[in-house]
Amino acid sequence: MNRNLSRTLILALFCNVAVSVFAQEAGKQEAKETVCFESRKGASEITKREIKPGLPNIKCSATTDAVLWYGDPYEGTVPMSKVPLLDKIPEGNAVVKPRTEKLSLVPTCTLACHNGVTPAGFPKHKKPVPIPTMEAMVPEVKDFQHGRGRIWCLDCHHPTKRNLLVDHFGDPVSFDQPQLLCGKCHGDKLRDWRDGIHGKRIGEFASTGKKRWFVCTECHNPHNVQNGAHQRGFTQLQPEAPPQLPFGMKDAKHEKQHPIHH
Ligand code: HEC
Ligand code: HEC
Ligand code: HEC
Repeated sequence: MNRNLSRTLILALFCNVAVSVFAQEAGKQEAKETVCFESRKGASEITKREIKPGLPNIKCSATTDAVLWYGDPYEGTVPMSKVPLLDKIPEGNAVVKPRTEKLSLVPTCTLACHNGVTPAGFPKHKKPVPIPTMEAMVPEVKDFQHGRGRIWCLDCHHPTKRNLLVDHFGDPVSFDQPQLLCGKCHGDKLRDWRDGIHGKRIGEFASTGKKRWFVCTECHNPHNVQNGAHQRGFTQLQPEAPPQLPFGMKDAKHEKQHPIHH
């Protein structure tokens, strides 16, 4: 065989293989989703996608997978329920992200079980009782710690409507508005959270601008609030490295100077 021809054939073969490998890799990359978490790992996952061409819904940390930036901070949010003293904010400007979509068991709570028939009737008291079936489904309630032995399931879950939480009057509270539940016992935290001192808000920082409040359960696991190095449910994260400086900037010394002269 002519030497040149065989070379061309080998080259063509190689290119073919290379192209198909490249195509496979590209396919794999397209299929692989980037899933990050917003606040509590395992309970606030969000998938990266484009809101419109070139605009991602989120940017995530390469070291922790935590969301660091939002393309649209209000995406998927609903109005916050009425919270006393938050009425200065125009209606629709205080929003929260619903929890229901993250809770896989809740939609079935009142269907097969807790329907008044299986088991028969509803509990007559709120005292702790062993619940092996629940422990098998939600292992975290096995050694329930929240309140250090002074509170139990029906202090938070509605006794007859199990797909809802409960306030101090016995009225139902949505899983999407847990601040109304937690606030019935943690009034000080509710106040700080409402005013933006506790927890997290994103959006327009002007006093009555539109903002998303992260709800209590986006950060705290209500069944296990003490876990972690500080016995408060959180382990400390390594701070992120500073972001890359803009093109042409040598250092960030200017940040040490106060922009307003006194
Ligand atoms: C301090 C209040 C509180 C107490 C006490 C409590 N829960 Fe919950 N529970 C909640 C909240 C709030 C949620 C929703 C969590 C979220 O949004 O991530 C929840 C969620 C659940 C779910 C749904 C989980 C899912 O993934 O769909 C089950 C089941 C449950 N609790 C069972 C129990 C049992 C059993 C007990 C008693 C051992 C209990 N809870 C005690 C507040 C409480
Ligand atoms: C029925 C009353 C009640 C409700 C409702 C309630 N808590 Fe608690 N919570 C307590 C008590 C009591 C303690 C224990 C305080 C202590 O002994 O230090 C506690 C402790 C805590 C702690 C501190 C952990 C610790 O013990 O050091 C956190 C965090 C917490 N709760 C968050 C929440 C969140 C979030 C919600 C809503 C999902 C909530 N709580 C709802 C009564 C309640
Ligand atoms: C953005 C996340 C976030 C949100 C939202 C949030 N918290 Fe917290 N919370 C924290 C952190 C972080 C701590 C401090 C933990 C520590 O001390 O290690 C904390 C601590 C607490 C404590 C214990 C404080 C103490 O001094 O013992 C309580 C109680 C509490 N939060 C209740 C709430 C309630 C009620 C809500 C909703 C109204 C809420 N949190 C919303 C992150 C959050």
